[in-house]
Amino acid sequence: MCGIYGYVGSNNPVKKAIEGLKKLEYRGYDSAGIAGVKDGKILSCKEVGKVSRLEEEIEKSHLSLDVAISHTRWATHGEPSQINAHPHFDDKKSLAVVHNGIIENYQGLKDELKKKGVEFLSDTDTEVVAHLISHFYKGDLVQAVKETVQLLKGAFALAIVHKDHPDSIVAVAHESPMVIGIGNEEAFIASDPNSFAPHTRKVVFLSNSEIALVKKDKLEVFSSDMERLEKKQEELKVGVYDSSKGQFEHYTLKEIFEQPQTIRNALSGKINEELGTAVFTGLQQELPRLGSVSRILILACGTSWHAGYVASYLFEEFSRIPVQVEISSEFRYKNPILNENALVIAISQSGETADTLAAVRELKAKGAKVLALCNVQGSSLARESDYTIFLNAGPEVGVCSTKAFTSQLTILSLLALLLARMRHLSRDEGVRFLNHLNKLPDLVKSILEEREIIRGIAKKYSSFDNFFFLGRQYMYPTALEGALKLKEISYINANGYPAGEMKHGPIALINPDCPTVALTTNKKTYAKMLSNIMEVKARKGPVIAIASKDEKDVDRIADDVIFIPETIDSLSPILATIATQLLAYYIAYERGESIDQPRNLAKSVTVE
Ligand code: G6P
Repeated sequence: MCGIYGYVGSNNPVKKAIEGLKKLEYRGYDSAGIAGVKDGKILSCKEVGKVSRLEEEIEKSHLSLDVAISHTRWATHGEPSQINAHPHFDDKKSLAVVHNGIIENYQGLKDELKKKGVEFLSDTDTEVVAHLISHFYKGDLVQAVKETVQLLKGAFALAIVHKDHPDSIVAVAHESPMVIGIGNEEAFIASDPNSFAPHTRKVVFLSNSEIALVKKDKLEVFSSDMERLEKKQEELKVGVYDSSKGQFEHYTLKEIFEQPQTIRNALSGKINEELGTAVFTGLQQELPRLGSVSRILILACGTSWHAGYVASYLFEEFSRIPVQVEISSEFRYKNPILNENALVIAISQSGETADTLAAVRELKAKGAKVLALCNVQGSSLARESDYTIFLNAGPEVGVCSTKAFTSQLTILSLLALLLARMRHLSRDEGVRFLNHLNKLPDLVKSILEEREIIRGIAKKYSSFDNFFFLGRQYMYPTALEGALKLKEISYINANGYPAGEMKHGPIALINPDCPTVALTTNKKTYAKMLSNIMEVKARKGPVIAIASKDEKDVDRIADDVIFIPETIDSLSPILATIATQLLAYYIAYERGESIDQPRNLAKSVTVE
């Protein structure tokens, strides 16, 4: 995966490319590079590390280009190094290529090229593309790209510049995103249209190996067999958001603190107080079908999968519909059995997670209709699904997902309510549930106001290298999410476990150096959780409990307690998560880690 950004026009291509690339760093930040044409030559600059390192080098070298393509990388083939950084070149340096995705058959292609005497400099799969285009090039760059693309297997978005074509970028996309932005006497190409949204909202998306010849005042798009296509120009709908860190030291903390508002956004316009139900305007025509849904299949990865997992308890408890929650990357190896009354829900903050997109494509090929839950307008998932509910949480910049998770839970709660009200749930029960939902933003705010307590506990435990997170029922997937946050930003080995399962093995790991975060806020499982805490204490394991303010006994057993406001069991994941997010944040802060961009991760994982 990676981010691609390119610019054709007379408005300082290098500056534009760096500005755009910074907005794509969420897709990877191992290395960055830029190339383009100047005076009939390909010039370039590549650096290991973040885009700011590349920017420094460019300033020193006074690089100037007439057309630019650039790239921020998350390493797949070959370690992060200057040689493996994109762009890649042919051996005459007549062209430069940037790539997002994986060329699955690159090794065979590389062996063939080597037999013909081609020398490779990098360990990447991308370099074969540069050599192949050069091999096929006879003056027509689009034709050479077409012949190359026909040989490639896998997922790829590519952008190419050639020294003989200083006014053009050739872009191509196959199962990896690539969008062209059409400006006034300028054009952009990017992996994500939000990166050029300040300059233009007029966009054309590429897919199915379509090849675009992009000039500042002209766009031509061809199918993979060179048929000229009339592509639809779309208007990008992007909200206006404050993209600065504001008063916060990290985006992650800013995003944690935005949650009272983002939860309000998720609720906004989706509540019918009178009828005690939820309203999704985009789903009106689906209502008859929703009434007969007999099974729900949820697909997602990472934090979004945890949201889906919480929702499986909600749908079963409230809507009385059986739910199957699948990690998208594993789902592919099953041969899914779908009936026509199944509702497929794909959850993805970015809408670009390759595993989730692949699972959705598989299901759509089987005739399923897909409802997406997504935060990014114009994303691949939003475009490919039949219906999309947007989170309206604003851009999430921190690599670990925080506000998107609580927005996903809020919307899934509303969806569970809608399905329940279409079945057996009474109006009064619906109204009561809505009352609890409406209180959430203020309750979240009150936890944030007590952050110093959590910070103090984080300080106390920041030197431990192993943690358990335990919970039952709704608190089990919440424990998984809490553990994931700690792993992601503080590099601590944290295991989320169903509390009842500890005794079947993991308890062997408990010792005074392994703290347990016990999530006790589900009333239904409170007594059992206390027993599990006692079991941990009996083995000298320190315990930090995250408990409801009305749970007093826990104070006597746990070493430390983070008290959070009371709510109903099904909504307590939202409140408990705020506490685990702050705990992970302050532990990572104490350890001096790179919180917004943790090592080895990327916000949007666009490779399988
Ligand atoms: C990456 C991110 C995670 C995220 C996961 C799924 O691994 O680092 O924070 O939860 O992708 O992303 P999605 O955009 O599909 O929700």
